[in-house]
Amino acid sequence: MFLENASLQARNTFAIAANSRFLAEVTTSAQLIDLLHTVTAKNLPVLVLGGGSNIVLSQDVAGLVICPKLMGIRCLEDQNDTVIIEAAAGENWHDFVQYCLAQGWYGLENLSLIPGTVGAAPIQNIGAYGVEIKDCFHSLTAVARQTGIAREFSLSDCLFGYRDSVFKQALKDAYIITHVRFQLSKKATVKLQYGDIAAELAQQHIHSPLPVDVARAVIRIRQRKLPDPAKIGNAGSFFKNPVIPQALFSDLKHQYPNIVAYPQGEQVKLAAGWLIEQTGWKGRTLGKAGVYEKQALVLVNRGGAQGKDVLALAHAIQRDVLAKFGVSLEIEANII
Ligand code: EPU
Repeated sequence: MFLENASLQARNTFAIAANSRFLAEVTTSAQLIDLLHTVTAKNLPVLVLGGGSNIVLSQDVAGLVICPKLMGIRCLEDQNDTVIIEAAAGENWHDFVQYCLAQGWYGLENLSLIPGTVGAAPIQNIGAYGVEIKDCFHSLTAVARQTGIAREFSLSDCLFGYRDSVFKQALKDAYIITHVRFQLSKKATVKLQYGDIAAELAQQHIHSPLPVDVARAVIRIRQRKLPDPAKIGNAGSFFKNPVIPQALFSDLKHQYPNIVAYPQGEQVKLAAGWLIEQTGWKGRTLGKAGVYEKQALVLVNRGGAQGKDVLALAHAIQRDVLAKFGVSLEIEANII
């Protein structure tokens, strides 16, 4: 059941070489629960790995890596305007989004082409182009790591925030998600408020876009700006966009009139990519890690990078952004 000394290089999108002492793939909830009982009996530390698209492996894993491979998509409820769809944790996120679109179940199209699995998506409340998973979320089922007992989480239980949920806070490493349910619309409404989408559609001369047009626009924008992990190792946005108080923003705006920012309630969210670009890091390389040429928020593996190379680069960027703007950049990827 366990693989020993398993290579994780093909299991993380940064393509960092690291090994795990043990590794197990599970395809059903029953297998997962069995495995958790063994793990508790042996007192093994556990790392759960979905698509490996948001981690930096800075060392070998001393315990057990569990890869949830539960598959399946089903419609639980079909009403006049809405459906409730359940997907198992091991489903590929992008494929799931395209499947929903093809069935005429709308709401997730702005989240096309995000790497990773369905089970990982709620943990950081994945978001892009004006939509977050919380906007279509219904509920999820997760198994407690300590007891193997399954529990249902509602929208409010998950405490979703910007790239955040209860599974990154109070319940960090406490549960393994097995199934996620979404409430999707059968009405073809589209969300175009993120500037890049409207511009992309206008350029294609599409004036009354359908959800499928939005998905195609998002795919084109992402392919232009973000490196394909199959070709260039990366973990998407490496830092969160920092949210700062209005007073600090006013000072920065005075000094840097072109600063890119978005109102966030009483506060202001800055484009971290812009801040990094201003420090001169965009396109540069340190050791075997680099800053992507087309999007400064994305760190990449220039070939043979180890976790420590990526972290050295990240720390240099954090230091320079702090020195220039007085703003701390928080790492968004999980450092193992
Ligand atoms: N910008 C620059 N230089 C750069 C990059 C960005 O000046 O090198 C400025 C530009 O003005 C640009 C603005 O920043 O218009 C925003 O850039 P972009 O639209 O690429 O979005 P982002 O804020 O850098 C966030 C998410 C992405 C998501 C996009 C689109 C975070 C941490 N990142 O990036 O999510 O795809 O918005 O919604 O919130 C991810 O989480 O892995 C990810 C890729």
